[in-house]
Amino acid sequence: MNVHESEKLAGMLVSLGYTKTEDMKFADVIVFNTCSIRDGVDQKIMGNIGATKKLKKNKPSLVIAVCGCMTQADGASEKVSEKFPFVDIIFGTHNIHLFKEYLLKHKDSKKKIRDVWEKEKGIFETVEMLRDNLFSNAWVNINYGCNNFCSYCIVPYVRGRERSRSPEDIIVEVKGLINDGYKYITLLGQNVNSYGNDFEDKSINFAYLLKTLNELEGDFRLKFMTSHPKDLSEDLIKVIAEGDKISKYIHLPIQSGNNKVLREMNRKYTREHYLCLIDMIRKYMPDAYISTDIIVGFPGETEDEFLDTKDIIEKVRYDGVFAFMYSRRKGTVADKMENQVDEDTKKDRIHRLLQVSKSITKDKNKELVGKKLNVIAVKNTEDGFETMSDSGKTIFVENTDLNVNNFYTVEITRFTKNKLFATLTKGE
Ligand code: 5AD
Ligand code: SF4
Repeated sequence: MNVHESEKLAGMLVSLGYTKTEDMKFADVIVFNTCSIRDGVDQKIMGNIGATKKLKKNKPSLVIAVCGCMTQADGASEKVSEKFPFVDIIFGTHNIHLFKEYLLKHKDSKKKIRDVWEKEKGIFETVEMLRDNLFSNAWVNINYGCNNFCSYCIVPYVRGRERSRSPEDIIVEVKGLINDGYKYITLLGQNVNSYGNDFEDKSINFAYLLKTLNELEGDFRLKFMTSHPKDLSEDLIKVIAEGDKISKYIHLPIQSGNNKVLREMNRKYTREHYLCLIDMIRKYMPDAYISTDIIVGFPGETEDEFLDTKDIIEKVRYDGVFAFMYSRRKGTVADKMENQVDEDTKKDRIHRLLQVSKSITKDKNKELVGKKLNVIAVKNTEDGFETMSDSGKTIFVENTDLNVNNFYTVEITRFTKNKLFATLTKGE
């Protein structure tokens, strides 16, 4: 979400005649589009903003802007302007579409601007984007905000309530992207499964959207993130399985494998329900790639409760595990819980968890030998032609030349410690 919003900010700058520079020394405008999902991120951003003070001193015309989730949080924008008085423009998540206006106003008046909206006000379509052409993946927002209030999470406070973009707007954007030659279209939402819940017409939901987009003409593949287990239905799993252009990759965050912790996290599903979903996914899509997010050290998590999470990882055998140490976020329910887990325990748990998931990934790579995968060609390298699978795996195709940005079907032939190799089975 953050990366895509940076594409929108960059797009606005390009429309004003700016170009991108890799070196801050040459910049006329620096925008910090912040994230505040965990404390470590917050700290890093603060350090980075601080580091621009000198640049501004050497070049007083330099404009520095700070926006995103961190500035949206209660009282945070005031803190940023107090701590970094040299920052020129501060805004939040709900008004990023106004960045261009703020910049012009500031350049005109030389006055500092701080405008953080308390609440979201619908959806503002942004047309200007400077898309990062990485592997030709294009992000497309389908819904904004979140209504779930998981007890550890800051997102509902800084992103507002759920709002779905109209299917017409999404279809127009996707059609444009296909025409522009984008090969991967990734639909974005904090919880894509609740797309359309805020519409009166209940027939417009995520399954409908996926089915409609799957029918569009063109050589492209659809991805989506993130799915919430409480809203993933059998009907939707069937739509994903049947859509020939829909990637069979599902990121399904479990967060914890223990029911008491899940209840306290306010996740609204049990480990049993989650495991049923995994069985269902594998029933309809035996070769589906499944990844997850895990939080270790949630307040009150005991060793046994942590072991339930480790057990889930061993049972599901994920293709990817993103594990995080629980981080206190001001204003959330979990922050007020008294039984916070100490940092050493969190470190120990994440370390043990990652060891297990790494060894599973290794075994799974072994099992891939002989399997056929859909990949997109990225670039020629010494190891062969680098390609990327739907699930984001890097695979080197040997002894052949491929056309960058084209899809191919390859067969995995061998793996080394950290690399997968394949041969071409069907070219396009
Ligand atoms: N502490 C640690 N991890 C968190 N996440 C969200 N909030 C927190 C927090 N307070 C993780 C969740 C989520 C991912 C995007 O970030 O696992 O799925
Ligand atoms: Fe945060 Fe939960 Fe919403 Fe995900 S579903 S953004 S974890 S509150």
